[in-house]
Amino acid sequence: LPSASGADTTALMSVKDTAEARLAGYRAEGRWRDLKIRETLSFSHNDYLNLSRHPKILDAGQKALKRFGAGCGGSRLLGGHHEVFEIAEENIQDFFQAPSALFFSSGYLANLAAITALGSLVDGVVSDERTHASHIDAISLTKKPKTIIAHQRWQDAQIHGRQLLVAESLFSMDGCVLDKSAFLSQLHSDNFGLVDEAHAAGIFGSSGQGLFQGDEINWNQMAVVVTFGKAFGVSGAAVLGAEWVRDLLINQARSFIFTTAPSPVVPAMVSAALEVLSAEPWRRESLVERSEIACAFLKSEGVSVHSLDCGSHALPTHIISLMTPGNQCAVELAAQAQREGIGVRAIRFPTVAKGLERIRISLNLQVTLAETQRSLERLVSLCREYSLPESIQESEKPLSPPGF
Ligand SMILES: Cc1ncc(COP(=O)(O)O)c(C=O)c1O
Repeated sequence: LPSASGADTTALMSVKDTAEARLAGYRAEGRWRDLKIRETLSFSHNDYLNLSRHPKILDAGQKALKRFGAGCGGSRLLGGHHEVFEIAEENIQDFFQAPSALFFSSGYLANLAAITALGSLVDGVVSDERTHASHIDAISLTKKPKTIIAHQRWQDAQIHGRQLLVAESLFSMDGCVLDKSAFLSQLHSDNFGLVDEAHAAGIFGSSGQGLFQGDEINWNQMAVVVTFGKAFGVSGAAVLGAEWVRDLLINQARSFIFTTAPSPVVPAMVSAALEVLSAEPWRRESLVERSEIACAFLKSEGVSVHSLDCGSHALPTHIISLMTPGNQCAVELAAQAQREGIGVRAIRFPTVAKGLERIRISLNLQVTLAETQRSLERLVSLCREYSLPESIQESEKPLSPPGF
């Protein structure tokens, strides 16, 4: 069957026939994706703290809609800049204790901006083999030589010359936490680090700043991407960095310059979400506690929890991966769980590498603790029915509470 790169076999086929053959291939390989509204307890979205329907955030959005209108009408540099962005950027800066913040429509675009702009200043880019798709795309756009390190092996990376080091602080698929000291040990004077806190911001840290505390960062050696569509329940993202980083992005980043600014409703709601998150710390505290309970339960049932197999910095987190042997098993197990009202999704190749297919559970406060416990119990029995691998010795480590 023709693949994305299979030009030879498709030379005589029409575009439509080529597309249909490829789609048939996706079905046959268990890679078919579709858009369906599923009425289940959802463990697949990233609205971890259940903020997307918070009254204060909705109210801020409604007020902004009335005051500024539905859209900005242009890029921030071409008539689309409003006071609401400046206010949000100040609030973001204060929340994350960063010298400056630049708002983007999404984390994907923020990563494209930061990696291409910062990548233009160095000789090459280094990243983890399991880094997020937005990093991979952005790194190719830099056209700089890339070095891919083995998963979570920053301590062994041989880094030469001026390099941009790109890392995820909490891996979106694996749920494991970056080995922060190993990463920081590679940041000497020639290098620059970019850390994506998409899944950690709003949850970890003393007040939800993420894995990296703003007042501990050397901002001339590192920038950070935070997103607002996950724990903050809205959408959008920001690049946090020194003033010169912000200026560089405004002047150089194509995903900032050549796109319409997000609706003014978005930064207004993000400002409200930052306030809510500070005023209601119980939300992140209960998510962290729930993660510990869930991981301890799965471990006691002998189910392999991927984030606990990540070496000495292994921690229970709200992203739990149950590894499955192959796409088809992941798809069948997820389909059965969905039929029973448990909304988990199969994460398949090519989203993850072959051999790393899994069921991803994202714990969240939209679902009660009791519903979560019941769902996990059922998932454990489904894992047994589908003969998923038993827990491996590596995961016999004590569960340590998140201390960052
Ligand atoms: C690590 C990471 N970075 C960036 C993004 C993109 O963020 P957004 O959804 O705001 O585009 C995601 C989203 O899944 C992610 O997991």
